[in-house]
Amino acid sequence: MKREKYLLLVPIIALFFLIKTYSSISLFDFGPLFIFTTLALLAELLPVKLPNDAEVTVGFAVYIGSILVLGYEASVWVAFISAFLSQIKHKVSGNPFFKKSFNIGLYILMVGSSGYVYKKLGGIPSNINLYKDFFRFIVLVITYFLINVGLMVFALKILYGKSIRNIFKATFIETLPSYIALAPLGILLAVIYINIGALGLILFLIPLLIARHSFKLYMDMKKVYLETIQALASAIEAKDPYTKGHSERVAKLAVAIAEELKMDNDLISNLHYAALLHDIGKIGIPEPILNKPCKLSEEEFEKIKVHPELGANIVKKVDFLLQASFFIRYHHERLSGSGYPEGLKGEEIPLGAQIIAVADVFDALTTDRPYRKAMTVEEALMEIEQASGVDFRPDVVRALKRVLEKEKSGGYVAR
Ligand SMILES: [Fe+2]
Repeated sequence: MKREKYLLLVPIIALFFLIKTYSSISLFDFGPLFIFTTLALLAELLPVKLPNDAEVTVGFAVYIGSILVLGYEASVWVAFISAFLSQIKHKVSGNPFFKKSFNIGLYILMVGSSGYVYKKLGGIPSNINLYKDFFRFIVLVITYFLINVGLMVFALKILYGKSIRNIFKATFIETLPSYIALAPLGILLAVIYINIGALGLILFLIPLLIARHSFKLYMDMKKVYLETIQALASAIEAKDPYTKGHSERVAKLAVAIAEELKMDNDLISNLHYAALLHDIGKIGIPEPILNKPCKLSEEEFEKIKVHPELGANIVKKVDFLLQASFFIRYHHERLSGSGYPEGLKGEEIPLGAQIIAVADVFDALTTDRPYRKAMTVEEALMEIEQASGVDFRPDVVRALKRVLEKEKSGGYVAR
C-alpha cells in the first residue's frame, strides 16, 4: 500500500529525539539503563491476550518508571532499544518495514515527549515526592496517553482510511482503562527502585509475573471452553447440512443484539455459549425428521419440540454452562405463551432466550431452506417486526433493527 510510507513520518520525528539525547548518554549509569530496558522488553514480549483478541502489556508502567528514575534522555534510549528488540519478534501484516519503524518511532515519541514535558515542569530524575509531584505525574501520563492515541489514530487513518472520529473514539475507550490501571504501577516501580534498588524491583515483579501466569491460564482455559463448544456446535450441523454456519451466525447476531441492549459482559459470554449450542438437542432427533424437505406431521413436530429441553439437559451438566442452559431451554418460547416446551409468557422468558429466538428466526428466514427460498434482510426484518410484542420482546426487535442498520453502514457483519 502506497499510503504506508506516510507512517515513516513518525520514526523520522523520533530520530530527532534520539539525536537530541545522544550526547547525554555518556553521563548515564548503564546499570539502570540496562535494567529498565530489560524490564520494558520483557513487558512487551509477555503480553496478555484478552477475550476480544486485544493484547495488553505493562510496558507503559515500565516507561513511566524509567522516566521518573532515569529522566527523559535515558528513557528515550530505553524505549528505542526495547522497542527495536521487541519488533524483531513481532509479526505484522503488510509491509513490515513501514509498520515496524512506525512502532519503534511511536514508543520513542510517547516516552520522549511525555518525559520532556515532565522535565520542563520541574520533575527531577530519581527524586520524587508522591504529593509534590502529583500534578507532574498526571501531566506525564496524560501526555503519554494523548501521543499514543493521536499517533494510533494517524496510523489507522492512513492504513484503513476510516473516519477519524470513529477511530479516535474506539482507540480512546480501548486504551484508557489500561492507562488508569498501569500509571500507579509505573510510579510504584520508580519508588521501589529509588528506595530499595534493583533487588526490590525483582521482588516486586515476581508476584506480578505469577499473577500474569494465572491470568494467562484462565484466558487459555476460556479459549479451550469456547473451542469445545464450537466443536459441539459443528456436530449438530454435520447432521443437518442446511443449517451449516447457522449456530455461528446466530451467536454473532445474538451477541451484537445483547451489546446493543448494553447487557453486562458475563451475561453476554453466557449468551454467546448458549447461542452456539442452542440446537445441540437436535443430536437426539432422528435424521429423517430433521432433514425432511416438506412440512412435518404433527407427530414429527412433537419430536422436534423436545430439542430445547434435550439440549439444556446435555449442557447443564457442565458447570459454567448452567445459565446458558436456561437460554437454550427457552429459545422457542414466545411472548404470548404460544411457544414450547413450557409455554412461558412475557417476563417469564429469560431475556437471553428471547435474544436467541430473534437471532435464530432472523437467520432461518434469511437462509435457503429445503422448503423455501431465503428472504432478503428487509423482508425478514419486516416479518419479525410484525411479530414484535406477540412472539418477541419489542426491545429486542428494536435492537435487531439497530444492529442491521449498523451493518448496512459498514459496522457489524453478521454473515
Ligand atoms: Fe431450535
